Amino acid sequence: MFNEKEVEWGKLGFAYVKADYNYVSCYKDGKWDDGKLVKENTLTISNGSTALHYGQQCFEGLKAYRAKDGSVQLFRPDQNAKRMIKSCQKLLMPEFPVERFIDACIQTVKANERFIPPYGSGATLYLRPFMIGVGDNVGVRPAEEYIFSIFVTPVGPYFKAGLSPVNFITSDYDRAAPAGTGAVKVGGNYAASLESHLLAAKQGYADCIYLDPATHTKIEEVGAANFFGITKDDKFVTPLSPSILPSITKYSLLHVAKEYLKMPTEERDCYIDKIDEFKEAGACGTAAVITPIGGISHKGKLHVFYSEKEVGPVTRKLYDTLFGIQMGDIEAPEGWIVKV
Ligand code: PLP
Ligand code: COI
Repeated sequence: MFNEKEVEWGKLGFAYVKADYNYVSCYKDGKWDDGKLVKENTLTISNGSTALHYGQQCFEGLKAYRAKDGSVQLFRPDQNAKRMIKSCQKLLMPEFPVERFIDACIQTVKANERFIPPYGSGATLYLRPFMIGVGDNVGVRPAEEYIFSIFVTPVGPYFKAGLSPVNFITSDYDRAAPAGTGAVKVGGNYAASLESHLLAAKQGYADCIYLDPATHTKIEEVGAANFFGITKDDKFVTPLSPSILPSITKYSLLHVAKEYLKMPTEERDCYIDKIDEFKEAGACGTAAVITPIGGISHKGKLHVFYSEKEVGPVTRKLYDTLFGIQMGDIEAPEGWIVKV
């Protein structure tokens, strides 16, 4: 049982803790019901649910942050709501409206207040909204019934604590096809990533780097995070490709780099054979926050960026500014913060 008085918040990893309440809304006869908070963390669904057989499902990930004054805030939940709509459109699932998505997030966080880590612990409350196709189906076609749900869990770092660099290795496998589902957040992409992750982990790497599926020459994603590099002349560079998940953290960093740190920014191809153009590199995402990349192993050679032991100064500035905004310590651009 979770006891908020005894938990060592600073020692949390990225693991599932059962919270008190979950949000559930059901779609039937062409409409969503009003939705409600429930205590159970199980869903009873038909064995013919399309999510089980044909991967008709999608999910999101965002966080609630406890600010210094004790208040709680969400970071850009409208962006997660909009990205989920894109995932739904791609898999022919009904859209869950943006305003309802944000309201459901707020309700779920409020109901699970005791699971929100304290300010300064480094931990946050992770929200996992998801949608699944359910009902009695057997042919390959979209379901007529769906469940939208949210659970929350308090989390610490996805990779390593304390802005420590980790190493990655390029994969020979692809997580998504060139004109496939790489740009949306659907479970199939993650099923396709399990084996490549295991192969990387077995060799001692934190995760693998996916190259573009068409030519295997350009960096696409760092496991379940986007890639960025800092050039020798201090440009913030990140790849642009139709098979990359458009990371909300990445787009926030592009803004932070340009408007807060006054750095030039570029979204463009990052060739694996030219990674020495970067003096620092990192992985970014909701779970990963900013994880400095110590080095990348490619074709048997390890290329080290700034250091395998220490975070580089530009990556640290990016981290401090973004995390400062998320925690409410630094003024956010308009609309980025939603108070719970
Ligand atoms: N890329 C992949 C494959 C992901 O799963 C995630 C996580 O959501 C990201 C990138 C980062 O996206 P975001 O910053 O929106 O969390
Ligand atoms: C996130 O950063 O929210 C993710 O979805 C990564 C993950 C699949 C754990």
